[in-house]
Amino acid sequence: MKRLKSASLPEDEYGRQYHILLKPGDVPRYVLLPGDPGRVALIARYWDEYREVAKHREYITYVGKYRGVEIAATSTGIGGPAAAIAIEELLRVGVDTFIRVGTTGALQEYIGLGDVVISTAAVRYDGTSKTYVDVEYPAVADLEVTLALIEAAEELGVKYHVGITASSDSFYVGQGRTGFRNYLPEKWAGIDKKLQAINVINFEMESATLFTLANIYGVRAGTVSAVIANRVTNEFIPNIGVDEAIKVANEGARILSEWDSIKEKNGVKGLSMKIIKEYIMRRAGGHEI
Ligand code: URA
Repeated sequence: MKRLKSASLPEDEYGRQYHILLKPGDVPRYVLLPGDPGRVALIARYWDEYREVAKHREYITYVGKYRGVEIAATSTGIGGPAAAIAIEELLRVGVDTFIRVGTTGALQEYIGLGDVVISTAAVRYDGTSKTYVDVEYPAVADLEVTLALIEAAEELGVKYHVGITASSDSFYVGQGRTGFRNYLPEKWAGIDKKLQAINVINFEMESATLFTLANIYGVRAGTVSAVIANRVTNEFIPNIGVDEAIKVANEGARILSEWDSIKEKNGVKGLSMKIIKEYIMRRAGGHEI
């Protein structure tokens, strides 16, 4: 990139964004958001076709088609600050539907390693969302995206749990793990147990920022995470369940696009039981069920 439009509008003359290096038209409306840049290729492995369109720092983007649906995946890096940059810039190039594909630590004993968690909302222990709006504003997932992820998990036979997530910008101290030399401020000691007691089901690092920004800007966002750790049983297996979360996210995007086309045909903007019934009928081959 050469000279950008200005310091306050860091994009080039084509609208190419400073961090993600994408311009309007480069990506479709449905974008999967893994944190890990290495996961983008793992996601695209399930697509009919794909190509890399941009790569800069932690932000790698592939576009392609999944079961006929135009789709993209952009890595966000770890935590709210890096994710907010990706979200801000993806919005500017036309994205309106985000599905985070993450990894997580479960806070409830009944959630097994390798299961997936679909988040309905996120406790805002991040710092980034607080720069956007007061903490009283809820970080809720989009209903359509959440339902599509549930439908995808059921269709694929993936064991899933639905509930409230907690997001922190801090993997260690902010999630109640001791820091270096056992440093742990009182505020965060036992935070895992406190959240467990109020029925929060998992800890991760980006959903609060994603949901807050998505609601402020009136776009859709949801999260599916692979359970790689359990804070109650104190187990940790890196990458277990990541493939299942990826499959659920890809299929969730396809289901959303099907619901979107039924909505368009019916001339409505939002999901309703009428739309879901038509989807179920289509799946049953057009016969009444
Ligand atoms: N990601 C997190 O943020 N926390 C965990 O415990 C595991 C994955």
